[in-house]
Parts: sequence; C-alpha cells; structure tokens
Amino acid sequence: MSIAASTGTPSATRIYARIAGTGSYLPEKILTNAELSTIVDTSDEWIASRTGIRQRHVAAEGETTGDLAYHASVRALEAAGVDAAEIDLIVLGTTTPDLIFPSTACLLQHRLGANGCAAFDVNAACSGFVFALAVADKFIASGAAKTVLVVGAETLTRMVDWTERTTCVLFGDGAGAVVLKADTETGILSTHLHADGGKKELLWNPVGVSVGFKENAPNAGVRINMAGSDVFKYAVKALDSVVEETLEANGLDRHDIDWLIPHQANLRIIEATAKRLDMPMERVVVTVDRHGNTSSGSVPLALDEAVRSGRVQRGQLVLLEAFGGGFTWGSALLRY
Ligand code: COA
Repeated sequence: MSIAASTGTPSATRIYARIAGTGSYLPEKILTNAELSTIVDTSDEWIASRTGIRQRHVAAEGETTGDLAYHASVRALEAAGVDAAEIDLIVLGTTTPDLIFPSTACLLQHRLGANGCAAFDVNAACSGFVFALAVADKFIASGAAKTVLVVGAETLTRMVDWTERTTCVLFGDGAGAVVLKADTETGILSTHLHADGGKKELLWNPVGVSVGFKENAPNAGVRINMAGSDVFKYAVKALDSVVEETLEANGLDRHDIDWLIPHQANLRIIEATAKRLDMPMERVVVTVDRHGNTSSGSVPLALDEAVRSGRVQRGQLVLLEAFGGGFTWGSALLRY
C-alpha cells in the first residue's frame, strides 16, 4: 500500500488513529541485579531502591534492533488481524538502528513483506515511540494513510559501558509495536511533543557519523553519558507540564484518566507523575522492574502487556508519556 497524495479537501468527519492491535518482544537473556553486581561495584538493594529495576533483558550476540522490531510487529499485526500488504506506512522509533542506513523501518518493511509502503525511523531517544506515534497519527488524521505500523525498538545495551555503574544498571533491550487504523469513532485524541536541545550533554552518546566516528571505531568512546540527578529533576518537571498540557487541551480533569502508561526509566519518576495525576499506582502500568529502561521500546512494551493482561479495556482513556535524551518529551492521549 502507499501514502495517498494530500488533496487538501476539508472533511467534516474527524478521522482518528485507533489502535487495532499491539505486540511486543523481549530478548530471551535476562540479566538480574545480582548478576550485574558481579560485573560492577553495585548491589540489588542500591539499584532497586533508587530505580525500581530488578532485572533487564539483553539481546543475544547477533540479535539486532530490527529483529526485536520484527517479532513485536508480527504479534501486533496478528492481534490487529492485518496483513503486512495492507500497511501504508511504517514509523519506527529508535536510537540504536541496525545500520546507519537504510533505516531499521526499511529493513523491517522488507522482512514483513510490506515492500512499497513508506517507511522511516524517528530518533527522539527514549521518547521515540511517542514521537513516532504522533507522526503516524498526523498521517492518519490527514487522510494520507489508513493503516500504519508504529514501532519502538532498541538494543541500548550495545552502547552501554559495562564498567560504568552509574549508567549500566539502568538499561535493557526490547521492542513494542502497534497497528493504527483510520476510524471515525475513536482513537488518539491528541499528542504533545517537546524538545530542548540545550540539554544535550546531560544525557547523550557523544559519537556520531560526522563527529568522532572514525576516531572511535570500532567501539571505544561510544557510550551513554548521563548527569543522573539533573536528568531526574528535569524529567519530573517536563512530564508534569506535558500531562497538564494534555488534560487542558482535551478539557479533562486528571481523574478522568483510566490508565497511565509512562516511559519506564525509573520508578520514582513514574510515581511522581502518578502523584501529579492523583492516580493510584494500580492504575499505572509498571514494567521497569522487569525490563529496565528500554528507551523507545518501553511505552509500547508496557501498553502491550496491559492490553494482553486484560487491564486496559476498549473505551478507556489512556495517557502515554515519555522523556529522553535531547531532551525530548511528549504525550499521547487516546481512547482505547
Ligand atoms: N551502585 C551503587 N552505587 C552507585 C551506583 C550503582 N549502580 N551508581 C551510583 N552510585 C553511587 C554514586 O557513586 C554516589 O556515591 P557517592 O555518594 O559516594 O559519590 C551515590 O551512589 C549517589 O549517586 P547519585 O548519582 O547521586 O544517585 P541518585 O540518587 O541521583 O541516583 C540515578 C542515580 C541514576 C538512579 C538517578 O539520578 C536517576 O534515576 N536519574 C534519572 C536517570 C534516567 O531516568 N535516565 C534516563 C532518562 S530517559
């Protein structure tokens, strides 16, 4: 399938992007806090009390972001009852692509057998899935696409420095996907995206193609650098503000939200947002304890888990939010 040419004709009926199916995938290998404490000077007690993380999944040698994205996408397509040939567009959030180019979305498209549709990656670090979802929503709302596959997939452990205890305990690998379909009834109600490039050095990997690539080949120097407590403080404020913005844009009260599905970086950040919404933790989907921070993978992984376990039901109001390097942050409010 393909992207339709925009006609610019105004339509009386609003077109929503509705989640028709979700899927996710985690690599088989689990790395527990106890195992990590044999590699670096840390402990299960320190990691769990500061972050809520107990374990994370790590991609096997040779297993790529594209592999995780593929398995998650197959499950989402199955759940939606959609054939790959029906996809008009693939938008994939990642900061750990298989290759510099082609995009991981293109590699995924070919593997799914959806050749011909538009496909591209979005790099918004840990906010990648929410940014990708917002892009897909605009394509559907404008009438340019009817069926869109949105993926968040990462192998962040590939750029983790396993000797650096302040960062290596935080991250894991994983992927999640949703199939969006055009619908006149209900779906994504609004999305809100922000960035502040001035905070680059608080959370970054300083190597890229045109900066330090050859000097650092093959791997030295390629690692996540983070000013943990500055990131923590900024994240809590930014998420508070985007949550307020989302409620205001939709004329909603904080008590109207049925489920909060936050980016899974740190349990304390999640609890701060839940408190702001006056939301009991039973209404917040938490996977950080088992997955760690899977960056773009975290929100769709949590969403898929909540849908498959029967917690998130059709008709409920669901708030997704994320924060990541850039800084980037954003939200999506949807009626599932
Ligand atoms: N194990 C044991 N001790 C550790 C440790 C580890 N894995 N990592 C750091 N420490 C030590 C530090 O060396 C420091 O020791 P010192 O007091 O002797 O100098 C002490 O613990 C406190 O370090 P600090 O960095 O102040 O801890 P913190 O309470 O800020 O917690 C984070 C650190 C990273 C857990 C926290 O800042 C955080 O979660 N920030 C947000 C990170 C995030 O979400 N990033 C991704 C956003 S998408």
